[in-house]
Amino acid sequence: MRAVDIIDKKKKRQELTKEEIDFLLEGYLAGTIPDYQMSAFLMAVYFNNMTKEELTYFTLKMRNSGDIITFDNLDYYLVDKHSTGGVGDKVTVVLGPILAALGMATAKLSGKGLGHTGGTIDKFESIENFKFSLTKEELVAVAGKTGVGLMGYSDNIVPLDKKIYALRDVTATVDSIPLIASSIMSKKLAIQSNLIILDVKVGDGAFMKTIEDARELSRRMVEIGNSVGRKTIAVLTNMDEPLGYNIGNANEIIEGIEALKGHWSADLKEVVYEIVYLALKHKGEVSTYEEAAKKIDEVIDNGRALELLRQFIELSGGDGEVVNNYELLPMPKSVLEGFSEEEGFVTKIKAEEIGKAAMVIGAGRATKEDEVDHAVGIELKKKVGDKVEKGEVIAEIYFNDEKNVQSSKAMVLDAYVIGKEKIENIKNILEVIE
Ligand code: URA
Repeated sequence: MRAVDIIDKKKKRQELTKEEIDFLLEGYLAGTIPDYQMSAFLMAVYFNNMTKEELTYFTLKMRNSGDIITFDNLDYYLVDKHSTGGVGDKVTVVLGPILAALGMATAKLSGKGLGHTGGTIDKFESIENFKFSLTKEELVAVAGKTGVGLMGYSDNIVPLDKKIYALRDVTATVDSIPLIASSIMSKKLAIQSNLIILDVKVGDGAFMKTIEDARELSRRMVEIGNSVGRKTIAVLTNMDEPLGYNIGNANEIIEGIEALKGHWSADLKEVVYEIVYLALKHKGEVSTYEEAAKKIDEVIDNGRALELLRQFIELSGGDGEVVNNYELLPMPKSVLEGFSEEEGFVTKIKAEEIGKAAMVIGAGRATKEDEVDHAVGIELKKKVGDKVEKGEVIAEIYFNDEKNVQSSKAMVLDAYVIGKEKIENIKNILEVIE
């Protein structure tokens, strides 16, 4: 078998056999197939796509390139929620404790933020001494007691994805739907769960800018999961403005804690409630959204979800008292206000621009090597649909270092789109694909 013939087949839109996929991926991982041949193959996939059978096999082969984490002693219904990456996305912070309070558990791999999108690891690391589980034994110890288990990605999880992703990055093949689907799903399938819920963000701040692309990516990921017997659902959610009011790290933890005390931003609530509803429905505990919402309200009102977050923080090395005392979190030195230059209604808040504005003051990373300043971030004072007066404060920038704060403010002001008409009935759940 020769790599050149496999590339030629994909170029001619012919379906690859399992043996050909084995040859290509094993050879690439071992270094016997060079980058230039893999690059040509990736570009052929970019233009000619993969069939369901090819994509499923390709994904499993990627998954099998590294460790597969299974739990013998975690007797829970395990829900793995994954976000394709958004701005202000603190869903995991809130969702884990709610699922746990309802008798389910999360045992998932989480990432660090890069570029304009944040990562769950960075948010929790705002809490002094907080350490993510590094091994499955550590994860089981924490999740066994609290129902919340989060672990950082190690180099042994899908090493082939790391190698291929780095190549995609420099060969203009990142934005290929089958390649994104196999990259995400290979990592999801590397850890045991009963249900995978994919929160596919759609809009300005998301990987998928249009509903059509988001739908296609969702369909392909759901197809992969379900064809290997892992129940998978995709929820398409709005990212035409950041989620909630805060973008950063410590400030997102505070917003997450506040949500667990019943003080929600409407959009965050809609997304979290929908995901919990889908989890309860698939576990067989509810048949309607209303039943699910009642159960969620109960664990918020009786403090059970918040208590599980407190315990999760304690068992992870942090001070659980942070849920009552936000001064335990790092605080920024100064605040800069951004004022509206016009009167009207907020019609859009360009999420990517806000993510970049947060990144340049240190809340995120421009490169993987950058350090994050957990104290800094942006608070939106107005959301889409809100009325604003000229000269009114629309956002606040929490910063430590003066260096980029003026350009951050300019980006925030530019991100706000003010129009004459009020936008009504903003939908945050766009579609569910299963
Ligand atoms: N996230 C991933 O994990 N992989 C991709 O290819 C794109 C987004």
